[in-house]
Amino acid sequence: MKVVVIHQSRTGNTRRAAELIGGAVEAAGNSAVVRSASNLDYKELAQADLVFVGTWVDGLILFGHRPGDLARVRRIPPLWDKQVAAFMTHAVNPGDAADKLAAVLVERGARVLDARSLHRRHLEEEVPAFVEGVLTGVDV
Ligand SMILES: Cc1cc2nc3c(=O)[nH]c(=O)nc-3n(C[C@H](O)[C@H](O)[C@H](O)COP(=O)(O)O)c2cc1C
Repeated sequence: MKVVVIHQSRTGNTRRAAELIGGAVEAAGNSAVVRSASNLDYKELAQADLVFVGTWVDGLILFGHRPGDLARVRRIPPLWDKQVAAFMTHAVNPGDAADKLAAVLVERGARVLDARSLHRRHLEEEVPAFVEGVLTGVDV
């Protein structure tokens, strides 16, 4: 399976999550490329069987949670009928930001398989189970 992992990251946590996701996808026998949202290869994206899209959690810790840099996420080309997994990284409390990211991706034509925020300090522990769950749910 061909997988593209897209990240929008300011301080590197979501990029690190994307790299770990790419590694886990490859360890399961698939091909993976990890790309920043500002450096996409449209042909590669068009050919992908599965796309992960990730950004960081923006909010006021207790409320107002939303996907960070959403304008940049919205510039990702439409994902008509692509199988997509949404991921985020957060520091304390993600609220419902992952569901909001999923809703944006659905608006852009994605078939969202899963949406989850990962704690920025526990990426190594949280990524493998997330990826395994997503890969189990993919239609091939
Ligand atoms: C303006 C701003 C608002 C944030 N709001 C939240 C928040 O509401 N909840 C939370 O858990 N983390 C919050 N964070 C922390 C980031 O989501 C977290 O550090 C994330 O891993 C950053 O990802 P990045 O390194 O890819 O940019 C906020 C960070 C910034 C800069």
